[in-house]
Amino acid sequence: MKISPSILSADFARLAEEVALISETADWVHVDVMDNHFVPNLTLGLPVVEALLKHSALPLDCHLMIEDPDRWAPQYAEAGAGSVTIHAEAAKAPIRTLRAIRAAGARAGLGINPATPVEPYEDLLGEIDMLLLMTVEPGFGGQKFLDVVLPKVRRARQLIKGRDLPVWLQVDGGVSAETIERCAEAGADVFVAGNAVYGADDPAEAVRNLRAQAEEATGEG
Ligand code: DX5
Ligand code: ZN
Repeated sequence: MKISPSILSADFARLAEEVALISETADWVHVDVMDNHFVPNLTLGLPVVEALLKHSALPLDCHLMIEDPDRWAPQYAEAGAGSVTIHAEAAKAPIRTLRAIRAAGARAGLGINPATPVEPYEDLLGEIDMLLLMTVEPGFGGQKFLDVVLPKVRRARQLIKGRDLPVWLQVDGGVSAETIERCAEAGADVFVAGNAVYGADDPAEAVRNLRAQAEEATGEG
């Protein structure tokens, strides 16, 4: 069970300090890169990720919600990101790009939006280290979790099991104390949480509690 707090809900003027707050209890730091084209919001890009890499004790989990991931994703991996996720809806050459991410030494992730089916990507499971299932429409933090995605989380877990691959299954969007147990029961093992961590009085404690809930839900606790 891995918790990857999203800095989308952190104070962008104090990113290094915000990341330090969770460095003892989290596994990864989720970085939402948005270009105002693939999603209707604009956040940060490669220069900020490069700067943050120098200050983060945890590996960066870069989620590229951008129109041209084929051009940009390998550069995030080369910069030192631990994981780089591209969106299936945006990539024009996903296999080439996923291989380039891995060749640069990062974990390769494939992300899909709530309404995108997972089955067409079954044959790509061998090319990836993580499958990211959006549980809100991408673009903003603090949205309501979409329960309608849970059956897809279950199907994705079955597909991964069926192929016996070590692919991590990440859920992203609206994951909180109210929803994390359902995600874990459905088969997710990496949990992104923005508002539930950075909206809490004690972010480090919020991460600990989320992990305990996820472990409890799957009998790992
Ligand atoms: C949404 C982003 C998510 C978001 C999660 O487009 O990909 O990572 O920050 O934030 P919460 O947990 O607040 O929904
Ligand atoms: Zn994200």
